[in-house]
Amino acid sequence: MCGIVGAIAGRDVVPMLTEGLKRLEYRGYDSAGIAVLNGAIRRVRRVGRVAEMESAVRAEDLKGIVGIAHTRWATHGGVTEPNAHPHMSGDQVAVVHNGIIENHEEQRARLKALGYEFESQTDTEVVAHLIHHYFRETRDLFAATRRAVADLHGAYALGVVALDEPHVMTGARMGCPLVIGLGDGENYLASDVSAVIAQTRRVMYLEDGDVAALERGRVRVVDRAGCPVERREHLSELSADAVDLGPYRHYMQKEIHEQPRAIADTIEGVVDGGVDIDGLFGAGATALFRDAEAVLILASGTSFYAGLVARHWIEAIAAVPCGVELGHEYRYRETIPNPRQLVVTISQSGETLDTMEALKRAKALGHDRTLSICNVRESAIPRASRLAFYTRAGAEIGVASTKAFTTQLVALFTLTMALAKARGKLSAGGESDLIEQLRFVPGSVQHALNLEPQVQAWAERFAVRDHALFLGRGVHYPIALEGALKLKEISYIHAEAYPAGELKHGPLALVDAAMPVVVIAPNDALLEKVKSNMQEVRARGGEIYVFADLDSHFAPSEGVHVIRTPRHAGWLSPIVHAIPVQLLAYHTALRRGTDVDKPRNLAKAVTVE
Ligand code: G6P
Repeated sequence: MCGIVGAIAGRDVVPMLTEGLKRLEYRGYDSAGIAVLNGAIRRVRRVGRVAEMESAVRAEDLKGIVGIAHTRWATHGGVTEPNAHPHMSGDQVAVVHNGIIENHEEQRARLKALGYEFESQTDTEVVAHLIHHYFRETRDLFAATRRAVADLHGAYALGVVALDEPHVMTGARMGCPLVIGLGDGENYLASDVSAVIAQTRRVMYLEDGDVAALERGRVRVVDRAGCPVERREHLSELSADAVDLGPYRHYMQKEIHEQPRAIADTIEGVVDGGVDIDGLFGAGATALFRDAEAVLILASGTSFYAGLVARHWIEAIAAVPCGVELGHEYRYRETIPNPRQLVVTISQSGETLDTMEALKRAKALGHDRTLSICNVRESAIPRASRLAFYTRAGAEIGVASTKAFTTQLVALFTLTMALAKARGKLSAGGESDLIEQLRFVPGSVQHALNLEPQVQAWAERFAVRDHALFLGRGVHYPIALEGALKLKEISYIHAEAYPAGELKHGPLALVDAAMPVVVIAPNDALLEKVKSNMQEVRARGGEIYVFADLDSHFAPSEGVHVIRTPRHAGWLSPIVHAIPVQLLAYHTALRRGTDVDKPRNLAKAVTVE
């Protein structure tokens, strides 16, 4: 995790680095720091949010035309100022780092033997000293950075400045994202485009093994073999507005409300053009889908729950066996590889290490039919996959995933249709019927968003509870899981989700008047079963909060509160039911006064095991 940003310009870069860091806080927010060249390397670091660092920067009147900055999610070493980045080697070299240097102990011993002293417990400090060591020999920061990274094992994105070479800033990438922003007489480095979008839309994505040297007027890149390379320039589609809060209080609130548009954008190609399999998923997809004997979905967190929903669709509509597994579980167990299985990874960020490693493991086992569903273009997971489908949620900044989840679901439904079509399981009429269901989703999601005041009233009651239980059945069980995850992530209320049928096998023991029970009750074939499960709760004095479809004619009664969600949305009902559980978590957290966008101990892109 961690976010890095750097700039080399002819004007003071401190304001743009500070603003850039704020855009990267989703990557970690334990501590923040900045180092600029101004006759000397001047560094300011603070434990806490970027805002703390910003106040200190103002108080010290920090200025400089070259600089690097960092926001941290602690891995090696506690959350202290000495462990905050940038790390320095004497007063000569400053480094910011995202990732983990696996051989840091060995390098530390080597550098100590060379006379270097260490001030932090981080793995990063070895990078600063190593670069300093080679800089002494070469007097060339680009060459020194290249020599240093050749000694490193692990994952990194680096930004480096040196006092004696103030017109150059270097960067390096291995396994962690790093993008170069190209400005007019100034250039930038960042973990993602959002940090530099206020300055430029012209970007260049570095590849694993690349080392770059940035000057005001030029950028040089060498690949892992040390050969000079040209990396293609892209015009980022991200707009500066997309990363602004606008009228909203939190990014999570903004992102919840952006869902109708994000979903509409993601399904645009399908509702306008039908299921053009190769056009949507990439050349060769039709053939791959046609003879896929099974589907294996690998993901983490909320993306994993999207996979659990998709399993129902894929087996029922496309008639292909489908397994769903957490990346970190899959990678460490013996499985029975089937090269004719389609391996689908789902990841909002495209850089989650658990998912990436699971994909690598699948490939090592001989799976070469790989598809990634991802929200970030050019990120590591889709680049390592044969096929890719990009959701068009736009930047998701709140740590708790919302619009990425619902756009993943429509993407997975599109995949279901494509699999069914390629395998001859979908008639022309069937296809247009499913597309019609898809077309209604943005409207139904908007309708669900209109329930916000009612959900807010419920949130008042949840905010004073210590625990909550979420129940769902079938394709809605993953929505119960997602509801519980959202609530615990941002309000710190302990929440569990169960398939409603499992209640009697254990969790019922927890139910009493102090345990609110949320029930996802769509008007589907399982409705009567869900109603019976609710009776089991009521009989034990449990208070029930039901999200019921408009057409299910669910009436409130004593101890049973009902919010009517839109008409039953058929196969796509889980998407509509995701909205009120997101709103419930958001308003409960708001009521409890927690930091909604940056919940404690978490980060959005988890690039560690
Ligand atoms: C982290 C985030 C979750 C996210 C998960 C997977 O744990 O806090 O919100 O669902 O990573 O992330 P991905 O980017 O792979 O979807």
